Amino acid sequence: MKPRLVELLRCPGCGAALTCFSFEERPDAAGLAQGGEAYGTEIESGLLACQGCDLAFPIIEEVPRVIRNAFEEYADWFKEQSPRITAIDGLGAVSQKIGSVDSSRFDKRSNESFSLQWEKYQYGDKTWFKSDLDQRRDEFLDAVQLSADELDGKLVLDAGCGNGRLTASVTRYGAEVIGMDLSRSVVRAHKMRDEHAGENAPRLHFVQGNVMEPPFAPETFDHEHTSGVLHHTPSTERSLDSFLTLVKPGGRVYVQLYRTREPWIGIPNAIIRACTSRLPLNLLFNVLYFLAPLHRWLVLIVAKLRGETSPIADTSRREQAISLFDNYSPRYQYRYTPAQMEKLFTERGLKNVRDVTFENEARHMVAFVGDK
Ligand SMILES: C[S@@+](CC[C@H](N)C(=O)[O-])C[C@H]1O[C@@H](n2cnc3c(N)ncnc32)[C@H](O)[C@@H]1O
Repeated sequence: MKPRLVELLRCPGCGAALTCFSFEERPDAAGLAQGGEAYGTEIESGLLACQGCDLAFPIIEEVPRVIRNAFEEYADWFKEQSPRITAIDGLGAVSQKIGSVDSSRFDKRSNESFSLQWEKYQYGDKTWFKSDLDQRRDEFLDAVQLSADELDGKLVLDAGCGNGRLTASVTRYGAEVIGMDLSRSVVRAHKMRDEHAGENAPRLHFVQGNVMEPPFAPETFDHEHTSGVLHHTPSTERSLDSFLTLVKPGGRVYVQLYRTREPWIGIPNAIIRACTSRLPLNLLFNVLYFLAPLHRWLVLIVAKLRGETSPIADTSRREQAISLFDNYSPRYQYRYTPAQMEKLFTERGLKNVRDVTFENEARHMVAFVGDK
């Protein structure tokens, strides 16, 4: 991570600023040339200690892990680094602290399920049956209803960035972009940033963080984007509230959620999920991988009956299994009609609220933009 990120990060527990103790770092000449000192170093490993409470967050494989339960999730790292940590003045107690985890804000299964899902993903795959390299990237401006000029020089958050491929592509509009995700997907996304963002890579950052306890100060971002994320948290409404605090007044907000499906598909889906979202993750993935050809066949038959073509025809069995896993594994999967989503936006005081759902995803998703 770049020192620049330290300026922006806050403790998800108490909101205070963080002090960075760098254990290993290397110079980044391209970052220095582009943005000066704040971008000129890559901190490879270290610790972010809260200035307000006793929580501390590791920087591992160059990615800050700013989640309240970091001590638990990265117990091995804390153990290994214990001599270094205890040697830092005033930090002796840190290695003893465990951030208390509130299950109404942090869902462990989500973290583990999406971490596994993005491990199975391979860069070059289609994400949600769309190519990241052109289709999703090109759709981004239409989705957020901003021009490239309006993004130039702005700070943008992509909350729940998943594989980070779309996040990276936004840097080509001149924006500085932060991709945040609860899962460990951010590690691979960070490793791929040079390949995905090219010369803009120094202004692309990834953070492990929870949108329900975001590791940023209020009104940090010029614009915000979140696709397919908030409905996977314990409360879409509370996630939306904390997501909205992060954007500056006047900033554009894009939110995409799952759409309420027709009962003939919605009810069986809910019944099947009641079972599958409790199964061990690896077992579930293997079962879905086994069943993927059967599912593909059913989807193609339904598409034929509707006189449509389905993008599933051009995807691999693994991509199909990932998409099935995305549906059947997460514990939370709330769904909304356009009217409900509009209400979510208007009752929070957003202005210029409009439905921006693409035709090619309107069966499954609903997307709105608004201005804070
Ligand atoms: C369906 S994926 C969407 C990924 C990406 N936005 C996209 O459009 O391709 C949902 C993502 O939300 C992330 N997520 C779930 N709960 C989260 C939370 N509380 N905070 C941040 N990210 C979360 C998951 O880890 C996962 O990567």
